This record gives sequence, C-alpha cells and structure tokens, in this order.
Amino acid sequence: MEKKQITTEIEIYEDVSELPAAVQHLMQKAKEVRANAYAPYSQFLVGAALLLSNGEIVSGSNQENSSYPSGLCAERTAIYAAGANFPNQKILQIAITAGPRERANTVPVPPCGACRQAIAEYEQKQKQPIEVYFMGKSGKVCKVASLLSLLPLAFDRHFL
Ligand code: THU
Repeated sequence: MEKKQITTEIEIYEDVSELPAAVQHLMQKAKEVRANAYAPYSQFLVGAALLLSNGEIVSGSNQENSSYPSGLCAERTAIYAAGANFPNQKILQIAITAGPRERANTVPVPPCGACRQAIAEYEQKQKQPIEVYFMGKSGKVCKVASLLSLLPLAFDRHFL
C-alpha cells in the first residue's frame, strides 16, 4: 500500500483593495452582474466575470428555474457565454462574488463542484491555467492560480 498526500495552495487577501487594479475591476464587474441574478427560489445571488486574452470581460449570474435542476450557476453561465462568443480567446481570470440577497456575507464562496469541472475543461481546451478569485459580498478574497488547485484528481479528456 502506498499513501500519497495532495496539497493545494490558496492565497487569502484581507480585502479586494490588496489586489491589482485590473482584478479589482474584474471583481467590480462580477458584483455588478450579481445584481442580475435570477434567484427567486434560493435568494442567493452569484456573479462571475471572466477576463479574456483580448481584454474583453464576459460576465454571468445564476439563473434559476422552477424546475430546479434546469437552472444554471453564475460561473457556468459566464464561461459558456465566453466559449460561445469568443471561442478563440483564452480565459485568463475569473472573479466570483456571492451571498444572500438580504444579508451581508464576508465568507468567500468557492465555485461548486459542477462549475469547477466546467472551468477545468476550459483550462484543458486552452492549455493554460485560469486564475480564480472568489469572495462573499465584501471582505476577504481567495485566489488560486489554477482551477486545478480546487479540483485535485480531476477527470479530464485523457481518461477517455
Ligand atoms: N450557485 C452559483 O451560481 N454558483 C455556485 O458555484 C454555487 C451555487 C447558485 C445556484 C443557485 O442559483 C444558488 O446559487 C443557490 O445554490
């Protein structure tokens, strides 16, 4: 029997103001689009903004449905929009902000498992890691240099 340990690295910033201006701008876009979340069932609002290699920013918010599984998370709304509209651009960064509609949230909200899998696919597609920044509605911001830091032992095309 062999035992292996998997480690991951995450940077934690006290406030978004500690990050480079371009990342602050991206997070601001994520906050703006968070207000467009259609979340009448959970009242939990999520915004995601992607920076592309051509400088374009593509954003998305969660879109719910009365048939719950038909809804889609903010991160996938955004990344599929980027893939659909800018198929040849690389995704450099993704900024995520989330929290309940009527309450403050200072706890950083990481992307769900399905969104991690979706973002990982684009790292494979573009053969380049994507920086992921995530936060609550205010306060600390977490950063990973690659989605794979949040998804060890990821399933990908090489298993097919
Ligand atoms: N949600 C996201 O948009 N992204 C995530 O990574 C986690 C969850 C949304 C889905 C649903 O509309 C609401 O948050 C509550 O789960």
